[in-house]
Parts: sequence; structure tokens; C-alpha cells
Amino acid sequence: MFCARSCCLRRALLGCWCALAVSGAIVLFSSSARFQSARAEPAATGATGAADRARVDPAAWGDDHVGQEVPEYVDIGECLFCHRKDVGGSWDRNRHSRTIHDAPAGDPAMKALAADPAGKSLVGEVQLLLGGRQATRFVRRAEQFGHADLLSAMAVPAERGNRFRIVHPRIADVADKPAANAKPHWDHERFANRCAGCHATAVDPETRNFATVSLDCCACHGDGPLEHSNEPELMPLAKTRKDSPQVVISICASCHIRFGESKATGRPYATNFVAGDNLFRDFRWDWALADDAAINPGDRHVLDLVREVALFGNGDMTCLSCHEVHPGTSLAHRKLPRTAYCAHCHEPGKPLTEHKRYVVHSKLCEY
Ligand code: HEC
Ligand code: HEC
Ligand code: HEC
Ligand code: HEC
Ligand code: HEC
Ligand code: HEC
Repeated sequence: MFCARSCCLRRALLGCWCALAVSGAIVLFSSSARFQSARAEPAATGATGAADRARVDPAAWGDDHVGQEVPEYVDIGECLFCHRKDVGGSWDRNRHSRTIHDAPAGDPAMKALAADPAGKSLVGEVQLLLGGRQATRFVRRAEQFGHADLLSAMAVPAERGNRFRIVHPRIADVADKPAANAKPHWDHERFANRCAGCHATAVDPETRNFATVSLDCCACHGDGPLEHSNEPELMPLAKTRKDSPQVVISICASCHIRFGESKATGRPYATNFVAGDNLFRDFRWDWALADDAAINPGDRHVLDLVREVALFGNGDMTCLSCHEVHPGTSLAHRKLPRTAYCAHCHEPGKPLTEHKRYVVHSKLCEY
């Protein structure tokens, strides 16, 4: 009941132990800074000489779960049983919940695969879809428990209308790129090695098994115990707990930095990250990328803020100053004072009613 994993019993004891360690780490870093709005003077952005600023050691505080067993997370069904009203109503539409979803025949990506001469014979094998806006990947459950196969071809929106077309992703780390008309094939390793940590839940670093496809509550709320119903502070991200900006930024950055790697495994996703951990003990990336104007604003505003909080120690703003994960809006951002940070998306000197048009691409995510 408490876990979707087969190896539940073996891990039960360690799970409890981890929960204690995590809550300890967070108490140390409690602060209310994340409830403040952006500071009035310009925050540093790529344009304002980050090289000269004083730095803190991002890895200095807190703990991580590298080398430990994956915690026994409470099953999402249990969470939703009690949180039907506050969260359940919007969860099915949340992109975290939907990042991997069912594959109805009427989906534009499925129609495109069915219409593709090289792809149509595979339509019957597709069980799940990954993504859906800029790109849709085709997924099927692998024979091995907790693994998924990824189709080499993907669907992207056609220039016009509600249609998709089939293309081969630009795969950064594969030298022999498939020809445009190559036959799509199932890849057994790619999802586990390069995608699972951010598009599936509770990946075991050793076996690379995930507990379930897509993301559930523990991706952000960690191994908060059931006792939180009497003592909400036990649950990471509970309002009364006042997690530090560093803790909050570590949680979001554990998936939203698409430019780094785990020191422990070399994979492009964090190793056994549990909400409350310090991401930067295991996960490294080039902080200077936050100054790279070639990176689209969708990724760069993330990199800049992560650096601001984790490297420059400025916790005036976090992702939650602008984004509400439940129900999933960024409307709060309109009420903040204008700072240099806004220039990621709003041209300085122009009214805020205008914003930059940008297209998000990602080498890591292959779109
Ligand atoms: C037995 C019922 C129950 C279960 C199961 C349960 N919760 Fe709760 N939860 C509560 C109650 C009661 C509260 C305190 C009242 C409130 O704030 O809604 C609470 C509070 C919270 C809060 C803090 C709300 C705030 O005030 O900021 C979060 C976050 C949360 N739960 C997440 C979860 C997650 C994630 C799960 C699954 C891992 C879960 N809950 C499972 C009953 C439950
Ligand atoms: C470090 C975490 C991370 C890894 C690893 C990762 N992704 Fe992603 N992926 C994300 C995030 C975060 C987003 C959402 C970005 C956004 O909307 O700006 C995303 C979005 C996507 C999308 C949705 C695009 C859309 O607009 O609908 C697809 C498709 C995708 N990833 C495919 C992959 C594939 C395939 C892999 C493995 C080869 C992979 N990703 C690996 C974090 C990751
Ligand atoms: C992508 C990260 C993420 C995931 C996944 C996630 N949450 Fe949350 N949750 C948050 C954040 C962030 C907050 C708000 C913290 C704040 O604003 O102070 C929150 C707040 C809550 C609250 C407090 C009430 C509210 O509406 O703000 C509850 C209850 C809750 N989450 C339950 C859940 C449950 C149940 C799931 C799984 C179905 C879940 N969360 C999945 C990030 C997440
Ligand atoms: C376990 C990985 C993971 C974590 C942790 C995570 N995200 Fe995401 N997030 C994703 C992925 C993957 C997508 C894109 C899903 C898709 O479109 O397929 C996404 C999409 C989003 C989006 C765009 C969609 C929307 O709802 O507007 C926002 C904003 C976002 N995340 C904010 C956050 C914030 C804030 C946090 C920290 C509280 C967070 N995420 C934590 C993986 C994660
Ligand atoms: C000052 C406000 C602000 C802050 C701080 C902020 N964002 Fe955003 N973010 C936005 C706005 C506004 C959008 C665009 C509107 C939308 O997509 O809802 C956006 C878009 C996004 C997207 C979608 C990009 C796309 O189009 O694919 C993701 C993912 C995201 N933010 C994640 C984060 C994460 C993670 C953090 C913290 C590291 C963060 N944001 C911090 C305001 C902010
Ligand atoms: C990641 C991109 C992004 C960042 C960063 C960002 N914005 Fe926005 N902003 C948008 C987008 C997209 C819209 C239009 C959609 C919406 O209203 O959310 C918008 C709309 C707005 C609006 C509403 C304008 C209107 O039409 O009435 C205001 C006000 C605003 N932003 C202020 C800010 C301020 C202040 C900051 C800095 C603290 C900021 N934004 C940072 C992308 C961003």
C-alpha cells in the first residue's frame, strides 16, 4: 500500500531512517525569505557582470542520498485520497503528472505515426506518449520491470493546423545520426540512461528502475510521512514549514537544469535526489551558462535564478514567487516589482504588456 516497488520490505527500515535525515537537513536551513517578493534593485542577470560577485559554496549545506536506498515513498493514490479537493481536481491536467500519458489513437502524434510509411507498423506497439507541445515521443513498457523503450522517431507539430509530422531527433551524443528516412526503432537503453530521472518517479540508481512513469507527488514532496496530516511541517514544501530558498531551488532545479550531470553516475539527471537534499552535492553544471545569450529564455530564466540562489546566496526570489505548481499558473509573476531579471522575457524600456517570443529547444530532451 505504501509503495509501488517490488522490493518494499527490504527497504522499509532504511526509508524511515532517510526521512529523519532529510527533515534534519531542512530544519537547519529554515527561513522565510521565499515569501518575500523580488528585491527592488536589479537582480543580477547575465548582463550585469556575474564574474565579480561574491560566491558561496553551493554544496556546503545539507545532505544527499547518493549511495543510499531509494526511500519508501507514500503512494500517490494515498496522497490524492486525502488531497482530492485541494490538488486532485487539477492534477490530471498538470504537466508534471502528464509528462508521460496514455496514447489514444486520436492523438495528433499517433495519427502522424499511423500515416508515416516507415512508422505505421509500430503504432500498435506504442503504449504511452512523452511530452506533447513541442515534441511527442513514443514509449512502450519494456519487458524489464521499471524500464521503458523509447522510439527513435518523434512527432512534432507541422507548420500549420492541428497536425504532427514524424522526424528523427537531433541526438547530441550519437555520432551516426539516423538518415531522415531511417526506419524508426525501439531503443532499450536510452530512456533509462538519459530521461528517466526527470520524466519518471523514484529511479533506482543501480538498476535504473523507476517506480512509475511520469511524475508523482514525491518528485517534489519527497518522503514526507503520513503523520504530516497532524503536523503539516513534516511535509516538504508545506507552507508552515518555510523551507529555505536553497531547499526549494534544489527541488525545482533537480529536473529543470537540462545542462548538467550527476557526479555519481555521469547521467544527465540527479542521483536519488529526495526533496530536502542539497542538489549541488551530486549534480554539477556550468554556472556560466546562465550568461549564455544563445540559450532560450525558457531555460535561461531558470539557470539564472538557480545560480542567483545557490551560488550567489541571494534568496529574495524562488521559482515559487512566480509559479504555482497547483493549479499550475504563473499569474503571480505579474504582481512583482520590475527588476533586471524580468529582461529574460520583457525587453528593458518596453511595457510589460509585451514579452519576447521564444521557442524552447533542448539538446538533452532532443527537441
Ligand atoms: C490521511 C490523510 C492524508 C494523506 C494520506 C496525505 N495528506 Fe497531506 N495533509 C493532510 C492534512 C490533514 C494536512 C493539513 C491540513 C492541510 O493543510 O490541508 C495535510 C497537509 C499537507 C501539505 C501542507 C499543506 C500546506 O498547508 O501547505 C502538503 C504539501 C501535503 N499535505 C502533501 C501530501 C502529500 C504529497 C501526500 C502523499 C505523500 C499527502 N499529503 C498525504 C492529510 C493527508
Ligand atoms: C534533467 C532533467 C531532464 C532529463 C534528463 C530529460 N528531460 Fe525532457 N524535460 C525536462 C524538463 C524540465 C522539461 C520541461 C521544459 C520546459 O517546458 O521548459 C522537459 C520536457 C521534455 C519534452 C516536452 C517538450 C514539449 O514541449 O512537449 C520532451 C518530449 C522531453 N522532455 C523528452 C526527453 C527525452 C526523450 C529525454 C531523454 C533522452 C529527456 N527529455 C531527458 C527535463 C529533463
Ligand atoms: C513539481 C513539483 C510538485 C509536485 C510533483 C507536487 N507538488 Fe504539491 N506542491 C508543490 C509546491 C511548490 C507547493 C506550494 C508551496 C508553496 O507555495 O508554498 C505545493 C503545495 C501542495 C499542497 C498544499 C496546498 C496547495 O494547494 O498549495 C498540497 C496539499 C500538495 N502540494 C499536495 C500534492 C500532492 C498530493 C501531489 C501529488 C498528486 C503533489 N502535491 C505533487 C510542488 C509539487
Ligand atoms: C522530477 C522532475 C521535476 C521536478 C522536481 C520539477 N519539475 Fe517542473 N517540469 C518537469 C517536466 C518533465 C516538465 C514538462 C512536462 C511536459 O511538458 O511533458 C515540467 C514543467 C514545468 C513547468 C511548465 C508547465 C507549467 O505547468 O506551466 C513549470 C512552470 C514547472 N515545471 C515548474 C516547476 C517548479 C516551480 C518546480 C519546483 C517546485 C518543478 N517544476 C519541479 C519536471 C520537474
Ligand atoms: C519572475 C518570475 C519567474 C521566476 C522567478 C521563474 N519563472 Fe519560470 N516562467 C515565468 C513566466 C512568466 C513564464 C512564461 C509563462 C508560462 O509559461 O506560464 C515562465 C515559464 C517557465 C517554464 C516553461 C518554459 C516553456 O515555455 O517551455 C518553465 C519550465 C519554468 N518557467 C520553470 C521555472 C523554474 C524551475 C524556476 C525556478 C528556477 C522559474 N521558472 C522561475 C516566470 C518566472
Ligand atoms: C520566463 C519569461 C518571463 C519572465 C522571466 C517574466 N515574464 Fe512577465 N510575462 C511573460 C509572459 C509570457 C507574459 C504573458 C502571459 C502572462 O500574462 O502570464 C507575461 C506577462 C506579464 C505581465 C502582464 C502584462 C499584461 O498583459 O497586462 C506583467 C505585468 C509581467 N509579465 C511582469 C513581469 C515582471 C515584473 C517580471 C520580473 C519580475 C516578469 N514579468 C518576468 C514572461 C515572463
